Amino acid sequence: MKRRLFIVFEGIDGSGKSTQCDLLFGHVVSIGLTAVRLAEPTDGVWGRRIRNMLKENEMAPAEEQLRLFLLDRKDDAEKNIIPALNGDAIVIMDRYYYSNAAYQGAAGILPERIIAENRKMRFPEPDRVYFIDVPPEVAIWRVSGRMSKGKEVFEKESFLRKVREIFLSLADERFIVIDGTRDIGEIFEIIKRDFEKL
Ligand code: ADP
Ligand code: TYD
Repeated sequence: MKRRLFIVFEGIDGSGKSTQCDLLFGHVVSIGLTAVRLAEPTDGVWGRRIRNMLKENEMAPAEEQLRLFLLDRKDDAEKNIIPALNGDAIVIMDRYYYSNAAYQGAAGILPERIIAENRKMRFPEPDRVYFIDVPPEVAIWRVSGRMSKGKEVFEKESFLRKVREIFLSLADERFIVIDGTRDIGEIFEIIKRDFEKL
């Protein structure tokens, strides 16, 4: 069975969005719908370059970050997102251009300008954005195991506080803000109920 829908998950690092992406993807496939699960940064050339930079403690200047994430998204849209939507699949994305506005916004660029640059590229617009909202200290605690391998540039509390504020300021009619401090199962029930309405 096919149904075209574009669903995006957003949140700060450690908010639990990948966990919820996996749950929704599993659910959608189990009810017989065609779905594709994607993530940005991607594992393509630009995404790999970004991930290498994130592991080091020196991130490129904000304008260069914006340029790289836009290139990665352009590649993702052309190779993955648009073909999947044209094939009437449900696309479930772990991060999209709202992350661009929130993270590179927190790094110093005006979020409105980042949104405008993304719109100029005519990337597909999502039908729904689930924003998993957690206080930065909770998110950092959750990924502290992961961080023992080295704290990524963006995983600092004061930075994530700014990122969260920008995310919340971007909320429009397709945004659903979900309290990410609840149990994994409770959060998924909220998402599943909303998804079924869509
Ligand atoms: P993100 O993709 O937002 O960085 P993850 O989904 O990878 O976050 O989750 C980060 C960590 O927190 C994982 O260890 C995950 O099992 C855990 N986690 C996810 N959701 C919750 C939740 N609602 N409550 C407690 N722990 C959670
Ligand atoms: P991701 O692998 O999703 O990290 P996590 O699983 O910790 O949430 O993303 C890596 C980092 O890339 C994350 O800190 C957010 C950042 N990012 C941007 O700064 N701009 C963007 O446009 C995107 C998509 C991600």
